Amino acid sequence: MTAEVSRGGLVLPSYERPRGAHPPLDFSGYRSTALRHPQQPLVLLPQRLTEVTGPLLGNDLITPSDSDLTTQHAGEPQGQRIILTGRVLDSGGRPVPDTLIEIWQTNAAGRYRHAREHHPAPLDPNFTGIGRAMTDAGGNYRFVTIQPGAYPWGNHHNAWRPAHIHFSLFGRAFTQRLVTQMYFPGDPLQPIDPIFNSVPDPKARERMVAQFDIDLTQPEWALGYRWDIVLRGPGATVFESEVDDQ
Ligand SMILES: [Fe+2]
Repeated sequence: MTAEVSRGGLVLPSYERPRGAHPPLDFSGYRSTALRHPQQPLVLLPQRLTEVTGPLLGNDLITPSDSDLTTQHAGEPQGQRIILTGRVLDSGGRPVPDTLIEIWQTNAAGRYRHAREHHPAPLDPNFTGIGRAMTDAGGNYRFVTIQPGAYPWGNHHNAWRPAHIHFSLFGRAFTQRLVTQMYFPGDPLQPIDPIFNSVPDPKARERMVAQFDIDLTQPEWALGYRWDIVLRGPGATVFESEVDDQ
């Protein structure tokens, strides 16, 4: 870790990024990245108090139904109910409390509730697909949701995304946001998915896959999956980055 002093006079830590773990911003297998990635070197903007002190998050802003996506409507959603839990950890294995985790996903049929969604699978009136939770003192988070479905995308002929849940983590400031995707074990679409395989290191790809946990599974009710999120270090989770490390 090194320290940088911004023009605003704030001393900010910076961390060396592992090579080969995070996906490049321009990945030929994922065609639209060619249209999205910066064409010029990034310009570091000075960070001031506003960026490094907000938002002020608190548990009182999160309701129980925020983390239970099966109870957000009048009826229960269709699909396989799952419990998804894990811990947010730093590079030393220490838990990271008070981290806002937001998730978004398709319903059981593989359809997002989104204005630009065009997959002709049915919407579920009892499922929005958006949740949020705060980590507790032990860095633990927990969601109850529905197993998302695979969906087609126009990247290439017969392209289907493996089932996944999008994750966003906020730290103590707006500038401390990390975004990634969590996958399910044993999915036959993973080996042929360009987004999953834009992560060069096979071990880093494995760290995006949750583990099925029979002890977390509740009889007659829901399957259990466990997925820890490691913020940095050799065991870090892969995050979608603003910096191209190729
Ligand atoms: Fe997605």
